[in-house]
Amino acid sequence: MNAPTMQGLAIQAPSYVKNAKLIAWVADMAALCKPEAIHWCDGSKEEYDRLCQQLVDAGTFKKLNPAKRPNSFLALSDPSDVARVEDRTFICSEKKENAGPTNNWMAPADMRATLQPLFDGCMKGRTMYVVPFSMGPLGSPIAHIGIELSDSPYVAVNMRIMTRMGKAVYGVLGTDGEFVPCVHTVGAPLEAGQQDVAWPCNKTKYIVHYPETREIWSYGSGYGGNALLGKKCFALRIASNMGRADSQGPSGSLGWLAEHMLILGVTNPQGKKYHVAAAFPSACGKTNFSMLVPPAGFDGWKVTTIGDDIAWIKPGKDGRLHAINPEAGYFGVAPGTNMLTNPNCMDSLDHDVIFTNVALTDDGDVWWEGMEQDTGALPSHLIDWQGRDWTPQIAKETGAKAAHPNSRFTVAATNNPALDDAWDDPKGVPIDAFIFGGRRSTTVPLVTEARNWVEGVYMAATMGSETTAAAAGQQGVVRRDPFAMLPFMGYNMSDYFQHWLDLGRKLEASGAKLPKIYTTNWFRKGADGKFVWPGYGENMRVLKWMIDRVEGKASGTEHITGVSPRYEDLNWTGLEFSAEQFATVTSIDKAAWQAELKLHAELFQQLAHHLPKELPETKAAIEQRLAA
Ligand code: OXD
Ligand code: MN
Repeated sequence: MNAPTMQGLAIQAPSYVKNAKLIAWVADMAALCKPEAIHWCDGSKEEYDRLCQQLVDAGTFKKLNPAKRPNSFLALSDPSDVARVEDRTFICSEKKENAGPTNNWMAPADMRATLQPLFDGCMKGRTMYVVPFSMGPLGSPIAHIGIELSDSPYVAVNMRIMTRMGKAVYGVLGTDGEFVPCVHTVGAPLEAGQQDVAWPCNKTKYIVHYPETREIWSYGSGYGGNALLGKKCFALRIASNMGRADSQGPSGSLGWLAEHMLILGVTNPQGKKYHVAAAFPSACGKTNFSMLVPPAGFDGWKVTTIGDDIAWIKPGKDGRLHAINPEAGYFGVAPGTNMLTNPNCMDSLDHDVIFTNVALTDDGDVWWEGMEQDTGALPSHLIDWQGRDWTPQIAKETGAKAAHPNSRFTVAATNNPALDDAWDDPKGVPIDAFIFGGRRSTTVPLVTEARNWVEGVYMAATMGSETTAAAAGQQGVVRRDPFAMLPFMGYNMSDYFQHWLDLGRKLEASGAKLPKIYTTNWFRKGADGKFVWPGYGENMRVLKWMIDRVEGKASGTEHITGVSPRYEDLNWTGLEFSAEQFATVTSIDKAAWQAELKLHAELFQQLAHHLPKELPETKAAIEQRLAA
């Protein structure tokens, strides 16, 4: 045992931890946060089971009925701690312009001065868990290591599912390997004799990133992306910085991309396999699309999941873009998931799941809105996500949801029956097409292919979507969400557009075949206010058109922003969907696009600092086509 002591607390790193910088950092953080004990997680099943039992004993977890949902638990959070807190999320680069106009910013020195008193003694009476994790397959040239220090055992067990977590990470780290230090506290120190609560957290919250020193500091929340720091904080905000920085060094490297994208494999009946990476804003069905079951009329087609939320994408030696899923599990939104919308996901949730903020049935199982689709009826009684009685009558009278709309499941990727054989391949999978999907009830057609890389970047940069639970106070409002990265961009958005443009230009110049770029919008509404496109498995019809286009086998029609299929270009076997309905989801309304382009202009004004000239140029070309 290495055993430096800090203020009487033995650090006691296990003998297999040999990284001096790590041990010194843990000692420093222990001196600051003053936990009662330190636990070095080894990632074993025994440890997981022990911590889960500890969470049950503490009242944080309820063990679900093993006959219904083996080895699974339900956690109910504090009602104030239910989603990412975008207004409390900061990118603290030295210069404000490097965080850009879409991020909250504070100078690093000021933020450190703000956090210092908050972190001082923040873990009193609690255990500090040292959580070693790899984002990406251990040792993959695309992977990176992080260490999260957290005073939440809930975080430790979730991280074991969401990342490659455990002892083996130290083998890759060695004596002087690099890691991203991530410090997390629920911000609820316990004074001597003070009774803990089931879900400790603090009204004050800070989710802080220092991109230059690649550090993450998270204070006050125990929930999801605020607390599981490998996910949004590391794999998107810090990693986006890493990927771009790589392109700016003397090595001549093209750099890489950290994207809010699912990755799927799609195999045609002849056995040829393609890979698609797709960006959709939060809560727009990424998990569903990544586990899509092809509908009737698609015999012999197969869709397999590589990832459901995040992709790290690097140019390979073959000149193609290769993607890995840096995560090892899914932290997905439960409500709306059922056997119709996502049967593979429902099957994934049969066992070994942590549920958070869903409802509890009287027989010790879980329930959420949308499950009535499968059973044909609402349950007569539940305990809702706030621990209160729920009945259909109460729901009718008060509108109370049994499960919080942002309630989640945490489940290992290996539970997914549609898991792709290459999901853990250190080389990643070569990408044939990118999809950018907005959520728009009007204006944007079902699917559009960009005629070239620049046009694709334009469409991704100007994507719009309705807001989700994490954007405080703005539910339902359409906001621009470039690349579905608005809440996850770790640097100036326009520099990010430039990085995409540069990468495409350089790859093309080297003779590489670039992936095609598509935008989709599953969410157009008819005059009755209802969604017209059936979505879910039926999205396969659109996916097949894309694959056929990659092969040069499908036609379409050119319009102001690219190429879209005509009615006859899609396979309709097994679905009744009329040409009129198709027109409703694909029409291009001139007046709507004129208004839309004004909003693009507003976006470009907001992002004026370093905005690549190609974007206003592309806009001008669309305007010309619109006027013609
Ligand atoms: C997520 C999100 O949790 O995008 O994946 O908010
Ligand atoms: Mn996401």
